Amino acid sequence: MRTREEYLSIVESTLDEVLPKEDERPAALSAAMRWAVGTGGKRIRPMICLAAAEAVGGRAEDARYPAAAVELLHNYTLVHDDLPAMDGDEIRRGKASVWARFGEANGILAGDALQALAFATAARAPRNVPGIVAALGRRGVGVVAGQVEDLVRETSANGAKVLPADTVDFVYEHKTADLFMAAATMGGLAGGGDAESVEALRRFALNLGLAFQYEDDLLDGDSPWGRGETERRAADSTNAAVSALAELKGGAEFLREIARSLIGRKT
Ligand code: IPE
Ligand code: MG
Repeated sequence: MRTREEYLSIVESTLDEVLPKEDERPAALSAAMRWAVGTGGKRIRPMICLAAAEAVGGRAEDARYPAAAVELLHNYTLVHDDLPAMDGDEIRRGKASVWARFGEANGILAGDALQALAFATAARAPRNVPGIVAALGRRGVGVVAGQVEDLVRETSANGAKVLPADTVDFVYEHKTADLFMAAATMGGLAGGGDAESVEALRRFALNLGLAFQYEDDLLDGDSPWGRGETERRAADSTNAAVSALAELKGGAEFLREIARSLIGRKT
């Protein structure tokens, strides 16, 4: 295992390598794509991907293209989520959202291009490319399914927009956990993991993704449950995630550290 900074440096250099140069034609698109990915994101999904490759006995570098791919896909979902047709957010990560800065059409198009670039990037993995691309595609469709149901909210007695009780689990699994599963599965495959190891990584990521969303609700103050119940769910899911790591053959310290760092996180 290396330091967090070393994993981050693999992620940032690979993203920089695959994104179009700032002045590449059309410059508005290149600039919007770079603005979207920019700095300020936690990069948790690509770090899970790199660490998953190591957890099956491979090298972090084996997973650098799949890691960049999942971050590109994640960023496309954020760009589209901010559009006026969805949340209409003008601020993302403390700066202007893509549509607010580059216009709505360019926001749609930059998201489209980031998604396509994600698949082109995943296909550069050193092995198991069909499985890696299939995993990204399956989870990429899942994120959209989660987002569709997330948009159907009811107005509660106090005026808050809440998810109907029977859609919460579906939305959390798909909107959030799907890309964690894509990250872990792709990393395991890129690192040369066998089917059992990749399945253990998927279970780790499903539970970690749920824990991540529960913590996100606590940060945003929009949990469907009370604080105590949400904290209990986050702790249970984190424990389930860490338990799944026991089946892995390589070093899983960094995956464990990522899981622990989610609890009580500040952003
Ligand atoms: C935000 O994800 C969207 C959710 C699924 C909660 P992150 O909180 O990972 O966003 P960044 O990439 O760090 O900005
Ligand atoms: Mg967030």
